[in-house]
Amino acid sequence: MGSTAVIRGLGGALPRRVVTNHHLSILMDTSDEWIKRRTGIKERRHSDETESTSVLATIAARRAMVSAGVDTVGLLIVATSTPDQVCPATAPKVASNLGLHGIAAYDISAVCSGFVYALATASWAIRSGAVTSVLVIGADTFTSLLDPIDRTTGVIFGDGAGAVYISAGTDNEPGAILATTLHSDGRGETLIQVPRTDGAYFEMQGKEVFKQAVSAMSDSVETVLSSVGWAAEDVDSLIAHQANLRILTTVASVTGIHDSKAEIHLDRVGNTSAASIPLAMTNAGTKGHRTPGDKVVLTAFGGGTTWGAVAMTWPIISVVDPH
Ligand code: UT7
Repeated sequence: MGSTAVIRGLGGALPRRVVTNHHLSILMDTSDEWIKRRTGIKERRHSDETESTSVLATIAARRAMVSAGVDTVGLLIVATSTPDQVCPATAPKVASNLGLHGIAAYDISAVCSGFVYALATASWAIRSGAVTSVLVIGADTFTSLLDPIDRTTGVIFGDGAGAVYISAGTDNEPGAILATTLHSDGRGETLIQVPRTDGAYFEMQGKEVFKQAVSAMSDSVETVLSSVGWAAEDVDSLIAHQANLRILTTVASVTGIHDSKAEIHLDRVGNTSAASIPLAMTNAGTKGHRTPGDKVVLTAFGGGTTWGAVAMTWPIISVVDPH
């Protein structure tokens, strides 16, 4: 019989190169004032050729293992839509980088919802009794796929990785994953896409994505709140996918969670896709925003379309600042 999955380690990794709004305003028709006012983003990181998805994922995973005080794991999942290669998957390489040859390792592709997808399914694997520990990594390097003159995508995306180590425990331990919900709707396939044609760039229909993100994330937050029996005012922290500050505050207000409870990290890193939630968690951990046992809701929306949420309590954790 399986057990509850409990978060016991957390780590993040960021590329070295900081790209400010001012820098972007030299490259494309935008301004620092517009980007801050319409998105809340001030700067983001761009990876170079030495900072591939697997490299960032490995650093974040190693930090999560150190944070948990462990040196092995039963299963490793990398949530990414920017794998090092079309095939094979990135996860076996990350596992071997960590010296974990022979463990089960696979990728999950759900774009910006990838981490929530990976964390939920990892929790199901522990509940099923199939494994007792999982490294869940969200890592993306979308900036290499952006059209250099597309201001819709250029201003919001950045690169990074974040990871959690989870293992079997009980519902009443800090860090317990208490409820999950996952969804998709392939009718929205073209809202966020990189077509399979030569030289294709990342494309996003920003306005429509904004609307769907607010409604899908709000619905899934309400689903997990009702599964665990928490009222909106019980929630200590809403850690939502970091794409746009206006989306975060709107989801908070639609669900009745006070907007001061929304964790904000996008000002420093932009939208890091599958890395955004675990990186926002590292920010909460390093800034001392959270206390073990706090009631936390994670939620994301991304390409597919895909969306979901997780209700959990804040773990007993130490984490290094990836900035
Ligand atoms: O991570 C997966 C999920 N992704 C998201 O959740 C992203 C969701 N979408 C968004 O965050 C927003 O739609 C964007 C940030 C991408 C765009 O913001 P917006 O407020 O929806 O802008 P808009 O497309 O409605 O454009 C408003 C105005 C337009 O000018 P006019 O027609 O009013 O004169 C645009 O041409 O702002 C202009 N504009 C810009 N101006 C300066 C659009 N993008 C920019 C820009 N810089 N980067």
